[in-house]
Amino acid sequence: MTTLHLAIDRSSGVPLYRQIYDGLRRAILERRLHPGQRVPSTRALAAELGVSRLPVLEAYEQLLHEAYLDGRAGSGTYVGASLPDDLLVAPGRAPPRPRPAPRPVDHGGMRPFRTSMPALDQFPRLMWARLVARHAHAMSPSEMGYGDPAGEVTLRLAIAEHLRAARAVRCETDQILIASGSQAGLRLAAAALLAPGDRVALEEPGYPGARAALAAHGARLVPVPVDDEGLRVDKLRARGRARVRAVHVTPSHQYPLGTSMTAARRLGLLEWAARHEGWILEDDYDSEYRYVSRPIGSLQGMDAHDRVIYLGTFSKVLFPALRIGYLVVPLALMPRFIEARRALDLCSPTLYQLVLAELVRGGQFARHLRRMRGVYQRRRDALLTGLARHCAGRLEVHNADAGLHVAAFLPDHIGESGVIAGLTARGLTALGLSPCYAGKALRPGLLLGFGGSTERRLLDATRVLGEVLRAEEG
Ligand SMILES: Cc1ncc(COP(=O)(O)O)c(C=O)c1O
Repeated sequence: MTTLHLAIDRSSGVPLYRQIYDGLRRAILERRLHPGQRVPSTRALAAELGVSRLPVLEAYEQLLHEAYLDGRAGSGTYVGASLPDDLLVAPGRAPPRPRPAPRPVDHGGMRPFRTSMPALDQFPRLMWARLVARHAHAMSPSEMGYGDPAGEVTLRLAIAEHLRAARAVRCETDQILIASGSQAGLRLAAAALLAPGDRVALEEPGYPGARAALAAHGARLVPVPVDDEGLRVDKLRARGRARVRAVHVTPSHQYPLGTSMTAARRLGLLEWAARHEGWILEDDYDSEYRYVSRPIGSLQGMDAHDRVIYLGTFSKVLFPALRIGYLVVPLALMPRFIEARRALDLCSPTLYQLVLAELVRGGQFARHLRRMRGVYQRRRDALLTGLARHCAGRLEVHNADAGLHVAAFLPDHIGESGVIAGLTARGLTALGLSPCYAGKALRPGLLLGFGGSTERRLLDATRVLGEVLRAEEG
């Protein structure tokens, strides 16, 4: 087994994890450890250094984030295979001068409680890297030209199969349109279906990203309240002649509150759309992850009148920087959407579409989803355990049945902005519920993401949150 000879100085004042991180990083940069070489397990290194496993785990986690190390599920940790050559220094040469990090790493983005972040530490990087490399090598000249504005047909086919089986979406390949994330999908839907000044209803509270996308298109926004059953369709109906052209909803997992829309509300909304010739923009952003029952079928699958535009994304199930999402569009509307696509960004990157098509059709995607469901369930449980232990009486968890975040209400005497400032000062992050309201927030609260952090970090973070809440209470 590799012995690393890391020098640990307990009197230096530098935290142990930092010394371990620096030592390993230096060994990699100076080529004492080679790309692809296995490094000791955290347990073995802790024993070798005579330290507890915690600082070693922390150092490995950081090195994995920065791609100096690669984790292979069940088969150990290796020096990253894809380190740029110019970062590596030949042995015998002077140690490298301090230089900027190899890539800008947004540590803030990975802080505990960050919302909308999947478990990037668990992403199968090597498998992904091999697939990307293989497809990059194999790209034909025609694949390197402008792609089909609707998307690569192999990916559209794979998505249609997946959505029929996993999300009860009623669709054929011809109805799938690949977009650069669901945010771009929303812009596309707005461009295809709405004229500037048209009224669009949004859930209140709702997803600020949807509000921004629709406002950017010139839509007049109509907030419609949600309750424990989902959107108040009665309020939508009550608008009568003030015609709403479209409504944006998150029926499987309401953003931000986490409830799922009841069957009665779904039928009511579909009936409203059919009667008023309105469009329903169904944003199904993270419904693959549900912990209390089987995933809930899509609203689109219940629609008999072609009023639903379904939006999905690979941001939560793979990673956000991929920027690939998809729409399921009623067939008759497809030409309008393609025309809008040509006016916007022509097409999505072909290489990643080909890679994704293989991932979905080859079954690795479904396996990844299954594995990640377990990971997220454990992370969610750690968050809930920590909140019960450290924040009881000061935070009321609203719903934790699904997704990658939970919404929690604050009592009236604890201010949302103070808590967020307190968390930021302690190296954590959280979103408030207030920005999710177009109008005045009914109840202050926090959105606590758990997808991107390990159980241990979440437990630690809830302890800090408890301290911040007590301090804010004065
Ligand atoms: C409700 C909701 N819709 C859509 C998205 C964005 O997805 P994409 O990255 O595909 O634009 C998010 C991301 O956080 C979200 O929370």
